Amino acid sequence: MTSTPLITCDHLHHVYARGNVTALNKVNVAIHQQEIIGIIGQNGSGKTTLVKHFNGLLKPTSGRVLLDGQDTVKRHVQELAAYVGYVFQNPNHQLFAKTVEEELEFGPRNMGLSDEQVIERREKAIEFFGLQQYRSHHPYRISFPLRKLVGMASVYTMQPRVFILDEPTTGQDNITTRTVYRLIHRLRDEGKTVICVSHDMILLAEVVDRMIVMRNAQIIADATPREVFADSAVMQSTRITPPQVTEFGVQYTQHRTRPLADVGPARTVVLSVQEAIDALFIGPKG
Ligand SMILES: Nc1ncnc2c1ncn2[C@@H]1O[C@H](COP(=O)(O)OP(=O)(O)O)[C@@H](O)[C@H]1O
Ligand SMILES: [Mg+2]
Repeated sequence: MTSTPLITCDHLHHVYARGNVTALNKVNVAIHQQEIIGIIGQNGSGKTTLVKHFNGLLKPTSGRVLLDGQDTVKRHVQELAAYVGYVFQNPNHQLFAKTVEEELEFGPRNMGLSDEQVIERREKAIEFFGLQQYRSHHPYRISFPLRKLVGMASVYTMQPRVFILDEPTTGQDNITTRTVYRLIHRLRDEGKTVICVSHDMILLAEVVDRMIVMRNAQIIADATPREVFADSAVMQSTRITPPQVTEFGVQYTQHRTRPLADVGPARTVVLSVQEAIDALFIGPKG
């Protein structure tokens, strides 16, 4: 990609004073507009520490984080929050208003928008997230999956350029999970950048277009999901299991002469059921 990165980490180093833990070890990464990025890695590998630097919740011990070319150290946290929205894994840590509507008015009002603009932002979020029926409900009297959508919607009302979603599909049911996938694509269509910390293999295989793999405070892989899932050394070192259909493809290849994944020049593994069906019943394309 040739555009100026939206977020640049330049030798980003973070040591937590408590326990003298090096959580990020000279990390370099650049993130661009409209990318959908998945960040994976074992517990304690540094994922949360990394994304908390993107919106200034944490400051580097050394190295720099640039937002649109400007050092985050020189910006106020409020200003950064309007630019990079952080959706908590647990909405109970995020929501506090008495109704869904009030929750969705808080951010825009806090940003100093007019009453008219506040209502416009609220209504756009209600429509976008399909919350019409729940507008006067207490956020804690709706189901956990819906509450999680409200958490996303409240960040959406601030219209940040970057959305950080921490485990957006954890605790979701089948329907709201599919809703989250669609929402991520819609956010991208609106020009947003979406960064998901996630263990959800379907999300990683079918929704994101770039995967960043962390291990021991460093990035050990940064590539397309197809490339990452095909890299058995990386997969083993993270102890992450690829999608079952990908494993099926790999095992099929070991038992047959023709690799299942061989449905196109760049394909090393299959990522979806549809790709496996194409490979089995339709055969190699162009
Ligand atoms: N507030 C903190 N104080 C001290 N150590 C921390 C703190 N937060 C995280 N750590 C440590 O930093 C490392 C990276 O943690 P974290 O970024 O939360 O990883 P992940 O999100 O991948 O699970 C871990 O060793 C963790 O124990
Ligand atoms: Mg974490």
